[in-house]
Amino acid sequence: MPSPRLLVLFGSQTGTAEDVAERLGREARRRRLDCRVQALDSYPVVNLINEPLVVFVCATTGQGDPPDNMKSFWRFLFRKNLPPASLCQVDFAVVGLGDSSYAKFNFVAKKLHRRLLQLGGAALLPVCLGDDQHELGPDGAIDPWLHSLWEKVLGLYPVPPGLGVIPPGVPLPSKFTLHFLPEASGPCPSEQRAAQAAPPSPPSERRPFLAPMVTNQRVTGPSHFQDVRLIEFDIADSGISFVAGDVVLIQPENTAPNVQLFCQALGLDPDRHFTLQPREPGAACPARLPQPCSVRHLVARRLDIAGVPRRSFFELLACLSPHALEREKLLEFSSAAGQEALHQYCSRPRRTALEVLCDFPHTAAAIPPDYLLDLIPPIRPRTFSIASSLLAHPRRLQVLVAVVQYQTRLKEPRRGLCSSWLASLDPGRGPVRVPLWVRPGGLSFPQEPGTPVIMVGPGTGVAPFRAAVQERVARGQTGNFLFFGCRWRDQDFHWEAEWRELEERGCLTLVTAFSREQERKVYVQHRLRERGPLVWELLDRQGACFFLAGNAKDMPAAVSEALLSIFREEGGLSDSEAAAYLARLQRTLRFQTETWA
Ligand code: 2AM
Repeated sequence: MPSPRLLVLFGSQTGTAEDVAERLGREARRRRLDCRVQALDSYPVVNLINEPLVVFVCATTGQGDPPDNMKSFWRFLFRKNLPPASLCQVDFAVVGLGDSSYAKFNFVAKKLHRRLLQLGGAALLPVCLGDDQHELGPDGAIDPWLHSLWEKVLGLYPVPPGLGVIPPGVPLPSKFTLHFLPEASGPCPSEQRAAQAAPPSPPSERRPFLAPMVTNQRVTGPSHFQDVRLIEFDIADSGISFVAGDVVLIQPENTAPNVQLFCQALGLDPDRHFTLQPREPGAACPARLPQPCSVRHLVARRLDIAGVPRRSFFELLACLSPHALEREKLLEFSSAAGQEALHQYCSRPRRTALEVLCDFPHTAAAIPPDYLLDLIPPIRPRTFSIASSLLAHPRRLQVLVAVVQYQTRLKEPRRGLCSSWLASLDPGRGPVRVPLWVRPGGLSFPQEPGTPVIMVGPGTGVAPFRAAVQERVARGQTGNFLFFGCRWRDQDFHWEAEWRELEERGCLTLVTAFSREQERKVYVQHRLRERGPLVWELLDRQGACFFLAGNAKDMPAAVSEALLSIFREEGGLSDSEAAAYLARLQRTLRFQTETWA
Protein backbone atom coordinates (compact mmCIF):
# COMPACT_ATOMS: atom_id res chain seq x y z
CA MET A 1 0.00 0.00 0.00
CA PRO A 2 1.64 3.31 -1.04
CA SER A 3 1.89 5.96 1.66
CA PRO A 4 -0.99 8.44 1.36
CA ARG A 5 1.16 11.44 0.61
CA LEU A 6 0.14 14.43 -1.50
CA LEU A 7 2.27 17.38 -2.48
CA VAL A 8 0.65 20.62 -3.65
CA LEU A 9 2.98 23.05 -5.42
CA PHE A 10 1.87 26.50 -6.45
CA GLY A 11 3.07 29.36 -8.60
CA SER A 12 1.14 32.42 -7.55
CA GLN A 13 1.44 36.10 -8.38
CA THR A 14 -1.55 37.73 -6.67
CA GLY A 15 -2.36 35.02 -4.14
CA THR A 16 -5.26 33.31 -5.93
CA ALA A 17 -3.25 30.23 -6.92
CA GLU A 18 -1.85 30.04 -3.40
CA ASP A 19 -5.37 30.20 -2.01
CA VAL A 20 -6.49 27.36 -4.29
CA ALA A 21 -3.41 25.37 -3.24
CA GLU A 22 -4.22 25.92 0.43
CA ARG A 23 -7.78 24.83 -0.19
CA LEU A 24 -6.52 21.64 -1.82
CA GLY A 25 -4.34 21.10 1.22
CA ARG A 26 -7.29 21.44 3.58
CA GLU A 27 -9.48 19.15 1.53
CA ALA A 28 -6.67 16.59 1.44
CA ARG A 29 -6.24 16.73 5.21
CA ARG A 30 -9.98 16.19 5.62
CA ARG A 31 -9.42 13.01 3.60
CA ARG A 32 -6.63 11.98 5.98
CA LEU A 33 -3.87 12.47 3.43
CA ASP A 34 -0.47 13.62 4.51
CA CYS A 35 -0.34 16.85 2.50
CA ARG A 36 2.25 19.57 2.07
CA VAL A 37 1.60 22.86 0.29
CA GLN A 38 4.59 24.80 -1.01
CA ALA A 39 5.57 27.56 -3.44
CA LEU A 40 7.27 25.97 -6.46
CA ASP A 41 10.53 27.83 -6.04
CA SER A 42 10.85 26.89 -2.38
CA TYR A 43 10.60 23.18 -3.26
CA PRO A 44 13.84 21.30 -4.09
CA VAL A 45 12.80 20.26 -7.57
CA VAL A 46 15.20 17.31 -7.83
CA ASN A 47 13.03 15.57 -5.19
CA LEU A 48 10.09 15.53 -7.56
CA ILE A 49 11.03 12.11 -8.90
CA ASN A 50 10.27 10.60 -5.47
CA GLU A 51 6.80 12.11 -5.07
CA PRO A 52 3.91 9.69 -5.59
CA LEU A 53 1.27 12.36 -6.17
CA VAL A 54 1.63 16.04 -7.00
CA VAL A 55 -0.95 18.70 -7.79
CA PHE A 56 0.40 21.85 -9.42
CA VAL A 57 -1.57 25.08 -9.13
CA CYS A 58 -0.21 27.71 -11.47
CA ALA A 59 -1.31 31.15 -12.54
CA THR A 60 -0.44 32.69 -15.89
CA THR A 61 0.61 36.32 -15.76
CA GLY A 62 1.37 39.14 -18.20
CA GLN A 63 2.01 37.88 -21.68
CA GLY A 64 1.79 34.17 -20.82
CA ASP A 65 4.54 34.20 -18.20
CA PRO A 66 4.88 32.10 -15.04
CA PRO A 67 4.56 33.90 -11.67
CA ASP A 68 7.74 35.10 -9.97
CA ASN A 69 7.71 32.36 -7.33
CA MET A 70 8.01 29.56 -9.91
CA LYS A 71 10.54 31.07 -12.30
CA SER A 72 13.52 28.91 -11.23
CA PHE A 73 11.37 25.77 -11.32
CA TRP A 74 10.25 26.73 -14.82
CA ARG A 75 13.81 27.16 -16.06
CA PHE A 76 14.80 23.81 -14.53
CA LEU A 77 11.85 21.90 -15.94
CA PHE A 78 12.55 22.99 -19.50
CA ARG A 79 16.22 22.07 -19.45
CA LYS A 80 17.05 20.04 -22.52
CA ASN A 81 19.06 17.42 -20.65
CA LEU A 82 16.31 16.08 -18.35
CA PRO A 83 15.93 12.31 -18.92
CA PRO A 84 12.65 11.53 -20.72
CA ALA A 85 11.26 9.08 -18.12
CA SER A 86 12.37 10.98 -15.02
CA LEU A 87 8.84 11.39 -13.67
CA CYS A 88 7.54 7.91 -14.49
CA GLN A 89 6.71 7.23 -10.81
CA VAL A 90 4.74 10.43 -10.42
CA ASP A 91 0.98 10.84 -10.65
CA PHE A 92 0.13 14.47 -11.23
CA ALA A 93 -2.64 16.95 -11.95
CA VAL A 94 -2.48 20.59 -12.98
CA VAL A 95 -4.81 23.45 -12.05
CA GLY A 96 -4.40 26.67 -14.04
CA LEU A 97 -5.53 30.15 -13.10
CA GLY A 98 -5.98 32.53 -15.97
CA ASP A 99 -8.19 34.94 -17.78
CA SER A 100 -9.81 33.93 -21.06
CA SER A 101 -9.86 37.54 -22.26
CA TYR A 102 -6.09 37.21 -22.79
CA ALA A 103 -4.68 35.45 -25.86
CA LYS A 104 -2.39 33.19 -23.82
CA PHE A 105 -5.15 31.90 -21.55
CA ASN A 106 -3.68 29.52 -18.96
CA PHE A 107 -0.58 29.14 -21.08
CA VAL A 108 1.62 28.15 -18.13
CA ALA A 109 -0.69 25.38 -16.86
CA LYS A 110 -1.15 23.91 -20.34
CA LYS A 111 2.56 23.98 -21.09
CA LEU A 112 3.37 22.46 -17.69
CA HIS A 113 0.88 19.65 -18.24
CA ARG A 114 2.44 18.80 -21.61
CA ARG A 115 5.95 18.89 -20.21
CA LEU A 116 5.10 16.64 -17.25
CA LEU A 117 3.60 14.08 -19.63
CA GLN A 118 6.70 14.32 -21.78
CA LEU A 119 8.84 13.54 -18.72
CA GLY A 120 6.84 10.37 -18.05
CA GLY A 121 4.40 11.62 -15.41
CA ALA A 122 0.88 10.12 -15.37
CA ALA A 123 -1.94 12.69 -15.49
CA LEU A 124 -4.83 11.88 -13.17
CA LEU A 125 -7.10 14.35 -14.97
CA PRO A 126 -7.04 16.79 -17.88
CA VAL A 127 -5.67 20.20 -16.94
CA CYS A 128 -8.19 22.39 -15.06
CA LEU A 129 -8.61 25.83 -16.65
CA GLY A 130 -9.68 28.31 -13.97
CA ASP A 131 -10.99 31.46 -15.57
CA ASP A 132 -11.45 34.93 -14.07
CA GLN A 133 -14.08 35.59 -16.73
CA HIS A 134 -16.32 32.75 -15.49
CA GLU A 135 -19.37 34.12 -13.66
CA LEU A 136 -18.27 32.30 -10.51
CA GLY A 137 -14.61 33.23 -11.01
CA PRO A 138 -11.94 30.49 -11.07
CA ASP A 139 -14.08 28.31 -8.75
CA GLY A 140 -16.52 27.82 -11.64
CA ALA A 141 -14.07 25.39 -13.25
CA ILE A 142 -12.19 24.34 -10.12
CA ASP A 143 -15.13 23.07 -8.02
CA PRO A 144 -16.23 20.29 -10.43
CA TRP A 145 -12.63 19.44 -11.26
CA LEU A 146 -11.75 19.00 -7.58
CA HIS A 147 -14.72 16.72 -7.20
CA SER A 148 -13.26 14.42 -9.88
CA LEU A 149 -9.78 14.76 -8.40
CA TRP A 150 -10.89 13.51 -4.98
CA GLU A 151 -12.69 10.58 -6.61
CA LYS A 152 -9.46 9.59 -8.34
CA VAL A 153 -7.27 10.19 -5.30
CA LEU A 154 -9.53 8.27 -2.94
CA GLY A 155 -9.47 5.44 -5.48
CA LEU A 156 -5.69 5.35 -5.04
CA TYR A 157 -5.59 6.09 -1.32
CA PRO A 158 -8.87 5.19 0.38
CA VAL A 159 -9.57 6.83 3.73
CA PRO A 160 -8.41 4.39 6.45
CA PRO A 161 -11.33 2.41 7.82
CA GLY A 162 -12.59 3.73 11.15
CA LEU A 163 -11.33 7.26 10.53
CA GLY A 164 -13.59 8.67 7.79
CA VAL A 165 -13.49 12.05 6.07
CA ILE A 166 -13.50 15.03 8.46
CA PRO A 167 -16.77 16.82 7.59
CA PRO A 168 -16.70 20.48 6.45
CA GLY A 169 -18.23 21.93 9.65
CA VAL A 170 -15.46 20.57 11.89
CA PRO A 171 -12.26 22.64 12.08
CA LEU A 172 -8.98 21.02 11.06
CA PRO A 173 -6.17 21.43 13.58
CA SER A 174 -4.47 24.82 13.33
CA LYS A 175 -1.06 24.96 11.61
CA PHE A 176 0.57 26.65 14.61
CA THR A 177 0.15 26.87 18.33
CA LEU A 178 0.66 30.13 20.19
CA HIS A 179 2.18 29.88 23.66
CA PHE A 180 1.49 33.06 25.58
CA LEU A 181 4.21 34.30 27.91
CA PRO A 182 3.34 35.54 31.40
CA GLU A 183 1.65 38.93 31.30
CA ALA A 184 4.46 41.05 32.71
CA SER A 185 7.05 40.28 30.03
CA GLY A 186 8.42 43.54 28.65
CA PRO A 187 9.00 44.65 25.04
CA CYS A 188 11.08 42.33 22.91
CA PRO A 189 14.28 43.71 21.44
CA SER A 190 13.81 41.55 18.36
CA GLU A 191 10.77 43.61 17.32
CA GLN A 192 12.38 47.00 17.23
CA ARG A 193 13.10 48.65 13.93
CA ALA A 194 16.70 49.57 14.48
CA ALA A 195 19.46 50.40 12.05
CA GLN A 196 20.99 47.28 10.55
CA ALA A 197 24.54 46.22 10.00
CA ALA A 198 25.45 45.80 6.33
CA PRO A 199 23.73 42.56 5.26
CA PRO A 200 25.74 39.75 3.68
CA SER A 201 23.55 39.53 0.57
CA PRO A 202 21.16 41.95 -1.11
CA PRO A 203 17.93 42.42 0.83
CA SER A 204 15.07 40.13 -0.18
CA GLU A 205 11.58 39.19 0.92
CA ARG A 206 13.05 37.11 3.75
CA ARG A 207 15.41 39.87 4.79
CA PRO A 208 14.09 43.28 3.75
CA PHE A 209 16.17 46.40 4.25
CA LEU A 210 14.70 48.82 6.79
CA ALA A 211 15.17 51.90 4.66
CA PRO A 212 15.11 55.33 6.30
CA MET A 213 12.47 57.49 4.61
CA VAL A 214 14.03 60.82 3.69
CA THR A 215 11.18 62.68 2.00
CA ASN A 216 7.46 62.22 1.70
CA GLN A 217 6.08 65.06 -0.32
CA ARG A 218 2.75 65.64 -2.01
CA VAL A 219 3.44 66.50 -5.64
CA THR A 220 -0.10 67.05 -6.92
CA GLY A 221 -1.68 70.49 -6.61
CA PRO A 222 -4.05 71.34 -3.79
CA SER A 223 -7.17 71.13 -5.95
CA HIS A 224 -6.22 67.81 -7.57
CA PHE A 225 -8.51 64.86 -6.81
CA GLN A 226 -5.61 62.59 -5.99
CA ASP A 227 -2.84 62.76 -3.42
CA VAL A 228 0.34 61.62 -5.21
CA ARG A 229 3.55 61.41 -3.19
CA LEU A 230 7.19 61.53 -4.14
CA ILE A 231 8.84 59.35 -1.53
CA GLU A 232 12.58 59.03 -1.15
CA PHE A 233 14.51 56.39 0.78
CA ASP A 234 18.12 56.33 1.85
CA ILE A 235 19.63 53.02 0.69
CA ALA A 236 23.26 53.74 1.59
CA ASP A 237 25.04 50.61 2.88
CA SER A 238 21.99 48.44 2.16
CA GLY A 239 23.56 46.24 -0.51
CA ILE A 240 20.72 47.38 -2.80
CA SER A 241 21.49 48.25 -6.37
CA PHE A 242 19.15 48.79 -9.30
CA VAL A 243 18.83 49.98 -12.87
CA ALA A 244 16.00 51.71 -14.72
CA GLY A 245 13.04 49.36 -15.08
CA ASP A 246 13.59 47.66 -11.72
CA VAL A 247 10.86 47.71 -9.09
CA VAL A 248 10.87 48.07 -5.33
CA LEU A 249 8.74 45.89 -3.07
CA ILE A 250 7.47 47.55 0.07
CA GLN A 251 6.08 45.64 3.02
CA PRO A 252 3.30 47.78 4.52
CA GLU A 253 1.61 47.43 7.89
CA ASN A 254 -1.86 47.91 9.29
CA THR A 255 -2.92 51.22 10.82
CA ALA A 256 -2.84 51.51 14.61
CA PRO A 257 -6.64 52.05 14.89
CA ASN A 258 -7.28 48.89 12.84
CA VAL A 259 -4.89 46.88 14.99
CA GLN A 260 -6.70 48.14 18.07
CA LEU A 261 -10.13 47.35 16.65
CA PHE A 262 -9.07 43.85 15.65
CA CYS A 263 -7.66 43.09 19.09
CA GLN A 264 -10.86 44.36 20.69
CA ALA A 265 -13.07 42.25 18.41
CA LEU A 266 -11.10 39.12 19.25
CA GLY A 267 -10.53 39.97 22.90
CA LEU A 268 -6.74 39.99 22.49
CA ASP A 269 -4.33 42.04 24.53
CA PRO A 270 -1.96 43.70 22.00
CA ASP A 271 0.83 43.85 24.58
CA ARG A 272 0.89 40.15 25.36
CA HIS A 273 3.80 38.16 23.94
CA PHE A 274 3.79 34.65 22.62
CA THR A 275 6.03 32.11 20.95
CA LEU A 276 4.90 30.28 17.87
CA GLN A 277 5.30 26.60 17.23
CA PRO A 278 4.36 24.69 14.09
CA ARG A 279 2.07 21.78 14.84
CA GLU A 280 3.64 19.60 12.13
CA PRO A 281 7.14 18.54 13.11
CA GLY A 282 9.66 20.03 10.70
CA ALA A 283 7.30 22.73 9.39
CA ALA A 284 8.71 26.25 9.31
CA CYS A 285 7.52 29.30 11.21
CA PRO A 286 6.77 32.37 9.09
CA ALA A 287 9.93 34.25 8.13
CA ARG A 288 10.33 37.71 9.65
CA LEU A 289 8.17 37.01 12.71
CA PRO A 290 10.29 37.57 15.81
CA GLN A 291 10.20 35.03 18.62
CA PRO A 292 8.82 35.88 21.09
CA CYS A 293 6.39 38.19 19.33
CA SER A 294 3.76 40.59 20.62
CA VAL A 295 0.16 40.34 19.52
CA ARG A 296 0.46 43.92 18.28
CA HIS A 297 3.41 42.99 16.06
CA LEU A 298 1.60 39.95 14.67
CA VAL A 299 -1.53 41.93 13.86
CA ALA A 300 0.20 45.10 12.61
CA ARG A 301 2.86 43.52 10.44
CA ARG A 302 1.70 40.06 9.47
CA LEU A 303 -2.09 39.62 9.29
CA ASP A 304 -3.84 41.14 6.30
CA ILE A 305 -6.88 42.33 8.26
CA ALA A 306 -7.50 45.16 5.76
CA GLY A 307 -7.63 42.76 2.82
CA VAL A 308 -10.83 41.45 1.27
CA PRO A 309 -11.22 37.91 2.62
CA ARG A 310 -11.74 34.87 0.44
CA ARG A 311 -14.15 31.99 0.73
CA SER A 312 -11.73 29.96 2.87
CA PHE A 313 -11.93 32.66 5.56
CA PHE A 314 -15.68 32.12 5.84
CA GLU A 315 -15.27 28.34 5.82
CA LEU A 316 -12.95 28.42 8.79
CA LEU A 317 -15.00 31.06 10.63
CA ALA A 318 -18.10 28.86 10.19
CA CYS A 319 -16.23 25.95 11.78
CA LEU A 320 -15.14 28.10 14.72
CA SER A 321 -18.40 29.94 15.33
CA PRO A 322 -20.28 29.16 18.55
CA HIS A 323 -23.26 31.31 17.56
CA ALA A 324 -26.12 29.61 15.70
CA LEU A 325 -27.30 32.58 13.61
CA GLU A 326 -23.81 33.77 12.68
CA ARG A 327 -22.74 30.24 11.89
CA GLU A 328 -25.69 29.74 9.59
CA LYS A 329 -24.81 32.87 7.60
CA LEU A 330 -21.11 31.91 7.48
CA LEU A 331 -22.02 28.43 6.23
CA GLU A 332 -24.08 30.00 3.49
CA PHE A 333 -21.11 32.16 2.44
CA SER A 334 -18.87 29.09 2.36
CA SER A 335 -21.22 26.99 0.26
CA ALA A 336 -21.13 26.76 -3.53
CA ALA A 337 -24.70 28.08 -3.66
CA GLY A 338 -23.78 31.10 -1.51
CA GLN A 339 -21.03 32.45 -3.76
CA GLU A 340 -23.13 35.16 -5.38
CA ALA A 341 -24.31 36.33 -1.94
CA LEU A 342 -20.71 36.33 -0.74
CA HIS A 343 -19.66 38.36 -3.76
CA GLN A 344 -22.36 40.95 -3.07
CA TYR A 345 -21.52 41.09 0.63
CA CYS A 346 -17.75 41.04 0.42
CA SER A 347 -15.75 41.26 -2.82
CA ARG A 348 -18.00 43.72 -4.66
CA PRO A 349 -18.02 46.45 -1.97
CA ARG A 350 -14.41 45.49 -1.01
CA ARG A 351 -15.34 44.69 2.59
CA THR A 352 -12.28 43.92 4.70
CA ALA A 353 -11.62 40.94 6.98
CA LEU A 354 -11.72 43.30 9.94
CA GLU A 355 -15.13 44.65 8.91
CA VAL A 356 -16.46 41.11 8.47
CA LEU A 357 -15.25 40.19 11.96
CA CYS A 358 -17.05 43.24 13.34
CA ASP A 359 -20.22 42.02 11.58
CA PHE A 360 -19.89 38.61 13.28
CA PRO A 361 -18.99 39.68 16.82
CA HIS A 362 -19.81 36.43 18.64
CA THR A 363 -17.71 34.46 16.20
CA ALA A 364 -14.83 36.94 16.32
CA ALA A 365 -14.72 36.85 20.11
CA ALA A 366 -14.49 33.04 20.05
CA ILE A 367 -11.59 32.64 17.58
CA PRO A 368 -8.81 30.68 19.28
CA PRO A 369 -5.51 32.59 18.78
CA ASP A 370 -3.93 29.38 17.42
CA TYR A 371 -6.08 29.83 14.31
CA LEU A 372 -5.07 33.42 13.52
CA LEU A 373 -2.46 32.42 10.94
CA ASP A 374 -4.78 29.91 9.30
CA LEU A 375 -7.58 32.42 9.12
CA ILE A 376 -5.86 35.54 7.84
CA PRO A 377 -3.27 35.55 5.07
CA PRO A 378 -0.04 37.51 5.37
CA ILE A 379 0.15 41.12 4.25
CA ARG A 380 1.58 41.06 0.73
CA PRO A 381 4.37 43.39 -0.27
CA ARG A 382 3.38 46.01 -2.85
CA THR A 383 5.38 46.70 -5.99
CA PHE A 384 6.30 50.16 -7.24
CA SER A 385 8.32 51.17 -10.28
CA ILE A 386 11.53 52.83 -9.17
CA ALA A 387 11.44 56.46 -10.30
CA SER A 388 15.07 57.49 -9.87
CA SER A 389 18.47 56.42 -11.15
CA LEU A 390 21.50 55.81 -8.95
CA LEU A 391 23.48 57.76 -11.56
CA ALA A 392 21.46 60.90 -10.78
CA HIS A 393 20.61 60.21 -7.10
CA PRO A 394 23.36 58.05 -5.61
CA ARG A 395 22.39 56.14 -2.44
CA ARG A 396 18.73 57.11 -2.94
CA LEU A 397 15.64 55.34 -4.18
CA GLN A 398 12.54 57.29 -5.15
CA VAL A 399 8.99 56.20 -5.89
CA LEU A 400 5.88 58.02 -7.03
CA VAL A 401 2.89 56.78 -5.06
CA ALA A 402 -0.75 57.57 -5.79
CA VAL A 403 -2.64 57.31 -2.51
CA VAL A 404 -5.45 54.91 -3.29
CA GLN A 405 -8.87 55.89 -1.97
CA TYR A 406 -12.28 55.19 -3.44
CA GLN A 407 -15.87 54.80 -2.44
CA THR A 408 -18.04 51.71 -2.72
CA ARG A 409 -21.53 51.31 -1.37
CA LEU A 410 -19.99 51.04 2.11
CA LYS A 411 -19.96 54.27 4.12
CA GLU A 412 -16.26 54.27 4.93
CA PRO A 413 -14.05 55.02 1.92
CA ARG A 414 -11.76 52.16 0.85
CA ARG A 415 -8.09 52.98 1.27
CA GLY A 416 -5.06 51.27 -0.24
CA LEU A 417 -3.12 49.73 2.63
CA CYS A 418 0.40 50.46 1.43
CA SER A 419 -0.11 53.85 -0.17
CA SER A 420 -2.10 55.18 2.83
CA TRP A 421 0.48 53.83 5.23
CA LEU A 422 3.36 55.40 3.29
CA ALA A 423 1.49 58.71 3.05
CA SER A 424 0.94 58.69 6.83
CA LEU A 425 4.65 58.44 7.63
CA ASP A 426 6.33 61.72 8.40
CA PRO A 427 10.14 61.67 8.43
CA GLY A 428 10.05 65.29 9.69
CA ARG A 429 8.78 64.08 13.07
CA GLY A 430 11.41 61.47 13.77
CA PRO A 431 13.12 58.53 12.06
CA VAL A 432 10.90 56.38 9.87
CA ARG A 433 12.01 53.03 8.48
CA VAL A 434 10.27 51.06 5.76
CA PRO A 435 11.01 47.38 4.94
CA LEU A 436 11.83 47.05 1.25
CA TRP A 437 13.85 45.18 -1.35
CA VAL A 438 14.22 45.46 -5.14
CA ARG A 439 14.00 43.16 -8.12
CA PRO A 440 13.83 43.42 -11.91
CA GLY A 441 10.52 44.70 -13.27
CA GLY A 442 8.87 44.21 -16.64
CA LEU A 443 10.91 46.86 -18.46
CA SER A 444 14.49 46.69 -19.58
CA PHE A 445 16.02 49.52 -21.52
CA PRO A 446 18.48 49.15 -24.42
CA GLN A 447 22.13 49.60 -23.56
CA GLU A 448 23.34 50.45 -27.08
CA PRO A 449 24.01 54.17 -27.33
CA GLY A 450 22.31 54.56 -30.72
CA THR A 451 18.92 52.95 -29.96
CA PRO A 452 16.19 55.55 -29.41
CA VAL A 453 13.41 54.92 -26.88
CA ILE A 454 9.78 55.99 -27.10
CA MET A 455 8.23 56.03 -23.63
CA VAL A 456 4.52 56.41 -23.02
CA GLY A 457 3.61 56.97 -19.39
CA PRO A 458 0.47 58.86 -18.40
CA GLY A 459 -0.04 59.70 -14.72
CA THR A 460 2.18 57.78 -12.32
CA GLY A 461 3.06 55.59 -15.32
CA VAL A 462 5.83 58.12 -15.93
CA ALA A 463 7.76 56.87 -12.87
CA PRO A 464 9.96 54.19 -14.53
CA PHE A 465 10.67 56.59 -17.38
CA ARG A 466 12.08 59.19 -15.02
CA ALA A 467 14.59 56.53 -13.93
CA ALA A 468 15.28 55.62 -17.56
CA VAL A 469 15.72 59.23 -18.71
CA GLN A 470 18.04 60.00 -15.80
CA GLU A 471 20.08 56.89 -16.51
CA ARG A 472 20.26 57.44 -20.26
CA VAL A 473 21.12 61.13 -19.96
CA ALA A 474 23.86 60.33 -17.44
CA ARG A 475 25.31 57.83 -19.92
CA GLY A 476 25.03 60.22 -22.83
CA GLN A 477 22.37 58.13 -24.62
CA THR A 478 20.31 60.31 -26.95
CA GLY A 479 16.98 59.63 -28.65
CA ASN A 480 14.72 59.94 -25.60
CA PHE A 481 11.08 60.50 -26.53
CA LEU A 482 8.54 60.79 -23.73
CA PHE A 483 4.75 60.96 -24.12
CA PHE A 484 3.22 62.09 -20.85
CA GLY A 485 -0.46 62.61 -20.06
CA CYS A 486 -2.18 64.15 -17.06
CA ARG A 487 -5.33 66.10 -16.28
CA TRP A 488 -4.02 69.62 -15.70
CA ARG A 489 -0.66 71.18 -16.40
CA ASP A 490 -0.65 72.93 -13.00
CA GLN A 491 -1.94 70.04 -10.86
CA ASP A 492 -0.49 66.68 -11.81
CA PHE A 493 2.35 67.35 -14.26
CA HIS A 494 4.99 65.30 -12.47
CA TRP A 495 8.57 66.57 -12.77
CA GLU A 496 7.69 69.34 -15.22
CA ALA A 497 10.73 71.44 -14.30
CA GLU A 498 13.11 68.51 -14.78
CA TRP A 499 11.70 67.64 -18.19
CA ARG A 500 11.90 71.28 -19.32
CA GLU A 501 15.52 71.50 -18.31
CA LEU A 502 16.38 68.32 -20.20
CA GLU A 503 14.51 69.60 -23.26
CA GLU A 504 16.53 72.78 -23.18
CA ARG A 505 19.74 70.76 -23.04
CA GLY A 506 18.54 68.79 -26.06
CA CYS A 507 18.43 65.50 -24.12
CA LEU A 508 14.68 64.86 -24.31
CA THR A 509 11.71 65.27 -26.60
CA LEU A 510 8.57 65.64 -24.49
CA VAL A 511 5.03 65.41 -25.83
CA THR A 512 2.20 66.19 -23.40
CA ALA A 513 -1.51 65.43 -23.35
CA PHE A 514 -3.50 67.45 -20.82
CA SER A 515 -6.76 65.61 -20.82
CA ARG A 516 -8.99 68.22 -19.20
CA GLU A 517 -7.70 71.53 -20.49
CA GLN A 518 -10.04 71.58 -23.48
CA GLU A 519 -13.55 70.43 -24.16
CA ARG A 520 -12.62 67.05 -25.63
CA LYS A 521 -10.34 64.61 -23.84
CA VAL A 522 -6.82 64.48 -25.22
CA TYR A 523 -4.81 61.40 -24.27
CA VAL A 524 -1.31 60.11 -25.01
CA GLN A 525 -2.67 57.84 -27.76
CA HIS A 526 -4.03 60.91 -29.60
CA ARG A 527 -0.61 62.56 -29.40
CA LEU A 528 1.04 59.39 -30.68
CA ARG A 529 -1.24 59.41 -33.72
CA GLU A 530 -0.50 63.08 -34.37
CA ARG A 531 3.20 62.21 -34.35
CA GLY A 532 2.65 59.12 -36.50
CA PRO A 533 5.40 59.92 -39.05
CA LEU A 534 7.97 60.43 -36.26
CA VAL A 535 6.93 57.26 -34.41
CA TRP A 536 7.11 55.19 -37.59
CA GLU A 537 10.49 56.67 -38.55
CA LEU A 538 11.89 55.89 -35.08
CA LEU A 539 10.54 52.35 -34.97
CA ASP A 540 11.01 51.27 -38.55
CA ARG A 541 14.15 53.13 -39.60
CA GLN A 542 16.02 53.73 -36.37
CA GLY A 543 15.22 50.51 -34.52
CA ALA A 544 13.67 52.32 -31.53
CA CYS A 545 12.25 50.46 -28.53
CA PHE A 546 8.75 51.32 -27.36
CA PHE A 547 7.77 51.33 -23.66
CA LEU A 548 4.40 51.73 -22.06
CA ALA A 549 3.60 52.06 -18.35
CA GLY A 550 0.62 53.03 -16.27
CA ASN A 551 -2.97 52.18 -15.49
CA ALA A 552 -3.98 48.82 -16.92
CA LYS A 553 -7.61 49.68 -17.53
CA ASP A 554 -8.19 51.02 -21.05
CA MET A 555 -4.98 52.88 -21.81
CA PRO A 556 -2.73 49.98 -22.93
CA ALA A 557 -5.26 48.75 -25.51
CA ALA A 558 -5.81 52.30 -26.78
CA VAL A 559 -2.06 52.86 -27.17
CA SER A 560 -1.63 49.56 -29.04
CA GLU A 561 -4.52 50.56 -31.29
CA ALA A 562 -2.83 53.91 -32.00
CA LEU A 563 0.38 52.08 -32.94
CA LEU A 564 -1.49 49.74 -35.27
CA SER A 565 -3.07 52.70 -37.03
CA ILE A 566 0.37 54.32 -37.40
CA PHE A 567 1.72 51.10 -38.93
CA ARG A 568 -1.16 51.09 -41.40
CA GLU A 569 -1.06 54.76 -42.31
CA GLU A 570 2.64 55.50 -42.24
CA GLY A 571 3.98 52.08 -43.12
CA GLY A 572 1.24 51.19 -45.62
CA LEU A 573 0.66 47.88 -43.87
CA SER A 574 -2.58 45.89 -44.03
CA ASP A 575 -4.48 45.04 -40.82
CA SER A 576 -2.82 41.66 -40.52
CA GLU A 577 0.64 42.99 -41.40
CA ALA A 578 0.29 45.70 -38.77
CA ALA A 579 -0.71 43.12 -36.15
CA ALA A 580 2.25 40.93 -37.13
CA TYR A 581 4.57 43.95 -36.95
CA LEU A 582 3.43 44.71 -33.39
CA ALA A 583 3.72 41.04 -32.41
CA ARG A 584 7.28 41.01 -33.73
CA LEU A 585 8.16 44.12 -31.72
CA GLN A 586 6.78 42.36 -28.64
CA ARG A 587 8.68 39.15 -29.32
CA THR A 588 11.96 40.94 -29.79
CA LEU A 589 11.39 43.02 -26.63
CA ARG A 590 11.14 46.22 -28.65
CA PHE A 591 7.64 46.74 -27.23
CA GLN A 592 7.49 46.35 -23.45
CA THR A 593 4.79 47.21 -20.96
CA GLU A 594 4.44 47.55 -17.23
CA THR A 595 0.87 48.13 -16.14
CA TRP A 596 -0.92 48.08 -12.82
CA ALA A 597 -4.52 48.05 -11.68
P1 2AM B 1 -8.77 61.67 -17.41
O1 2AM B 1 -8.64 61.34 -15.95
O2 2AM B 1 -9.02 63.13 -17.65
O3 2AM B 1 -9.76 60.82 -18.14
C1 2AM B 1 -3.31 60.24 -16.03
O4 2AM B 1 -4.23 59.64 -15.20
C2 2AM B 1 -3.94 60.68 -17.32
O5 2AM B 1 -4.40 59.51 -18.05
C3 2AM B 1 -5.15 61.57 -17.11
O6 2AM B 1 -5.00 62.67 -17.95
C4 2AM B 1 -6.29 60.69 -17.53
O7 2AM B 1 -7.37 61.42 -18.09
C5 2AM B 1 -5.64 59.88 -18.61
N1 2AM B 1 -6.45 58.72 -19.06
C6 2AM B 1 -7.61 58.24 -18.53
N2 2AM B 1 -8.07 57.20 -19.27
C7 2AM B 1 -7.19 57.03 -20.28
C8 2AM B 1 -7.12 56.12 -21.38
N3 2AM B 1 -8.05 55.18 -21.58
N4 2AM B 1 -6.09 56.24 -22.23
C9 2AM B 1 -5.14 57.18 -22.03
N5 2AM B 1 -5.16 58.07 -21.04
C10 2AM B 1 -6.16 58.00 -20.16
